[in-house]
Amino acid sequence: MMRALLLLAAALPLCAQDALVARGEKVFQTSCSVPYCHGPNGTAGRAPKLVGHSFTARELSNIVSDGIANKGMPAFGAQLPADDIRAVVGYIMTLRGSAPASASQTVAARTVPEDAQSGKALFFDAVRMGGCGRCHELEKRGSRVATDLKTAAAHTDLRSIEVHHVMTAQPAGESAFPVLVAEQSQKRVRVFDLSSPLPVLRTFAPDAVKLTAGSAWEHREAVSGYSDAELQEIAKYLQWVAAAK
Ligand code: HEC
Repeated sequence: MMRALLLLAAALPLCAQDALVARGEKVFQTSCSVPYCHGPNGTAGRAPKLVGHSFTARELSNIVSDGIANKGMPAFGAQLPADDIRAVVGYIMTLRGSAPASASQTVAARTVPEDAQSGKALFFDAVRMGGCGRCHELEKRGSRVATDLKTAAAHTDLRSIEVHHVMTAQPAGESAFPVLVAEQSQKRVRVFDLSSPLPVLRTFAPDAVKLTAGSAWEHREAVSGYSDAELQEIAKYLQWVAAAK
């Protein structure tokens, strides 16, 4: 009995560590791997990849808090609570070296069948600034800005998709723009700005922005860079993902 208790006690810090890393992974997804910057799970985005880095926790903590002047890395010290910074540093530390540490990274990539391959390439097309992947994540690639398509119903027309969650943000002294709300708390409001070709995550004090339901934003704007034939290829890829989930 005593022995079991001791073992339990020894295991506790590990669980706490896991919880910290899991929370850090979430912070990373919403604050670091937005389309403009680091890629999902530490892969390369517009900012450098973080998988395999050799920073110490203290160095990372300084970089995240203070930013890197002239390099485009913003200072998050004033934006994120200290706990979130600690968590995200804990998560990024699991990306050190070459060993993938997070559960989501170890999911083996399945082979995409031939008839879905061109659709997949189009979905993440770099020429189209990431294509559908600018807003949707699939197979651990792309950005989790909008709906998870793995669980979405099948759609035959990717242009006229009904929009339910897009709202209108009206910051004081700025023109209104369509957004997807990422976080809304008493402390802050964080929204993905859909008026930008690459949705940018913007943070406001709650009283500095007014959110209203609905918007004139249409999905056809998001997919206007694709031809009908290309959208059909992409639909095949989506069907394969849905069938293989
Ligand atoms: C600029 C961001 C953006 C891009 C790019 C984009 N989408 Fe979307 N997508 C959205 C938003 C926003 C919604 C609707 C979310 C809501 O309000 O319910 C959506 C919804 C969808 C849905 C419906 C999901 C459901 O639950 O029924 C599908 C399917 C979809 N998108 C596929 C695509 C495909 C395929 C592409 C590329 C050809 C693409 N999207 C490109 C933002 C985007």
